[in-house]
Amino acid sequence: MLGHRNLFPLWLLLLPHVSGSAVMFGRQRNPVPQEGNVRLFGGDGADGADGRVEIYHGGSWGTVCDDDWDLAEAQVVCRQLRFLGAVSVVIGKDYGKVSGPIWLDDLTCKGTENYLSACGFGSWGKTDCTHKEDVGVICETGSSNVTGRNSAYSLDHSISLSDERGQIFDSGNSCDFLISVRSVTGNTQENETQEEVGLTICAHKLILSQFPLFNASEETTGITVDVDQSCEPHFSSFIRYIYTRQVDVTLSSVKCLHWMAYKFGVKQLMEETGRLFTKFIPEDASFQTQVSLHEYAVETEDFVLQETCIQYLAWNYQNLTMSPAWTQLSVELLGSLLLRSDLVVSDEYFLLQTVEGWIAEKGKSISLETQVDLLSRIRFPMIPAEALYDLESNSSLYSTHENLYRKNILRALQFNVLLFSKLTSNKKFDREDDDIRPRIYTAEPWSTAIDRQQTRNFYNQRYDQYNQQNPSTMYFNTPVHNSLIFKSKMIRWEANVFKSQYECSNRGVRCESFPSARLAPQNSLTEWSNILFRNRLLLMCQGKYIFQVQDFKGNMANMAVNGTQFSPYSCPDDQQTYRFVVRPEYV
Ligand SMILES: *[C@@H]1O[C@H](CO)[C@@H](O)[C@H](O)[C@H]1NC(C)=O
Ligand SMILES: *[C@@H]1O[C@H](CO)[C@@H](O)[C@H](O)[C@H]1NC(C)=O
Ligand SMILES: *[C@@H]1O[C@H](CO)[C@@H](O)[C@H](O)[C@H]1NC(C)=O
Ligand SMILES: *[C@@H]1O[C@H](CO)[C@@H](O)[C@H](O)[C@H]1NC(C)=O
Ligand SMILES: *[C@@H]1O[C@H](CO)[C@@H](O)[C@H](O)[C@H]1NC(C)=O
Ligand SMILES: *[C@@H]1O[C@H](CO)[C@@H](O)[C@H](O)[C@H]1NC(C)=O
Repeated sequence: MLGHRNLFPLWLLLLPHVSGSAVMFGRQRNPVPQEGNVRLFGGDGADGADGRVEIYHGGSWGTVCDDDWDLAEAQVVCRQLRFLGAVSVVIGKDYGKVSGPIWLDDLTCKGTENYLSACGFGSWGKTDCTHKEDVGVICETGSSNVTGRNSAYSLDHSISLSDERGQIFDSGNSCDFLISVRSVTGNTQENETQEEVGLTICAHKLILSQFPLFNASEETTGITVDVDQSCEPHFSSFIRYIYTRQVDVTLSSVKCLHWMAYKFGVKQLMEETGRLFTKFIPEDASFQTQVSLHEYAVETEDFVLQETCIQYLAWNYQNLTMSPAWTQLSVELLGSLLLRSDLVVSDEYFLLQTVEGWIAEKGKSISLETQVDLLSRIRFPMIPAEALYDLESNSSLYSTHENLYRKNILRALQFNVLLFSKLTSNKKFDREDDDIRPRIYTAEPWSTAIDRQQTRNFYNQRYDQYNQQNPSTMYFNTPVHNSLIFKSKMIRWEANVFKSQYECSNRGVRCESFPSARLAPQNSLTEWSNILFRNRLLLMCQGKYIFQVQDFKGNMANMAVNGTQFSPYSCPDDQQTYRFVVRPEYV
């Protein structure tokens, strides 16, 4: 039992934490909204750090269209809400019912503004979007301090008196709560029972009681926790973290710390260790890690980690389909990948073939309804016309799902032979339909690559006349749109990668940071006012994996702000290649 003499200093030590958290949660929203206020609505977390972006204008809350959103815009929202920064932009997620106005569209933020309304935009309420395109944001919470040193990361969420609290834990003085940690070794003993190992930690109720899941109440004297054997060695540093808010994380402990943080509701530690997972996501070319991490993230309801995994898999979908993890993919995971517009594939026909192959591989374990559900997520109008004509004979599932294929092929053919105004006027098509939006198609003619690794010794390589003088530039031609009626209407594109101010000035371009990429049409586009180009830049590392996808603003894509890369994954400067993808959309 705790004596009075000891109770007092312990309380004192707790006080800074209590006031510290009061400050942290002190960003409560103003009950009377002011013009220009923002909020995140309908998110998963309790701390208001994620959700649909809403802005208050003219006396009512409205939403913001996702056109041209990237981390720069998200940074501004998160900064205005006084979070540390932005984790990601969420496109296409349903945050629940919304009926108010769409206040903002075509926002262009530099990323340094203090208010969303300080960014550039047309005018309030002027938009061609629907609520389906409302943008969401996930902000970074807490006062984390992550510093890496040789695959060990120090997490430091300390407030004050962490050292003293650490001493209390280490000494075990006056502890009043026993935590018995048990794990099964997997060995069977002589009397046929499972061998167990364990340790007992003596802790303080007063400190554990910040986290109700420890059950450290007046009446209890301890708990027993069953852990995985690999996690047992890390349990003590987890409990010590509860005292000090500091812990060293290694690749061997990260999943355990994350799991324990999840089990006991230690949210900040869970988020930070979740973020550390991303450090080694690209390291596994077999994709087993990414897929199992995603499963784990679903289990632990870690939405940030889920999104991180899915996004990485979407960017690297093509290689995923050739990996050992491909046939083990769950229906749910494949289904969510098929909903994404940031799926990087050569073309939509390739995507259809991979889905057909996956279904064939799984055989009867995939019900007909599930097959239909997956196949319906294919964007048939995006399938190249020449492949459409062959589908009936070439598709392995055509005879099984003849109706579905027929209906979709007919629709796709209409898409290819009629003007969009015609298609929408007879109501067969709607601007909002997902299946008329491109994903990120890398096949000819829609994309080109610039490999600036080669520039140092480019005299040894065979380049065409122009590129010998200027290897940072590529020219390529695409039709105005992928619909067949535009087949002969070509646009010429110039793609550049600039690595210095000198290169930018030479081209007469203003660059904000380096490297910068530029993708500019060489023809006037005014004739095609109902076609919008949502072009993308893909950054590939060591020719192995895509580690970032960036959009263009005013023909420019920045990959970093002041030397800090947007991407959570790092890649040495001289090992990046750049792929430019043209993506026309009817608007
Ligand atoms: C993070 O920790 C390092 C070393 O402990 C310290 O120098 C740095 O100021 C800290 N940064 C923040 C933002 O607290
Ligand atoms: C089985 O043996 C172990 C070690 O010899 C012992 O600790 C355990 O109590 C035994 N279990 C039963 C059910 O007898
Ligand atoms: C805490 O108490 C609840 C309800 O009695 C129980 O379900 C839960 O397992 C306990 N937690 C621990 C860690 O023992
Ligand atoms: C369809 O199959 C035929 C014969 O195998 C092949 O020649 C053709 O290229 C295929 N079409 C597509 C679009 O792959
Ligand atoms: C995929 O794997 C192949 C080799 O298996 C590799 O050459 C390629 O660069 C990888 N990455 C991507 C994004 O295609
Ligand atoms: C980059 O750094 C410069 C100088 O330190 C600063 O003036 C500028 O605002 C920074 N830009 C961004 C986008 O943070």
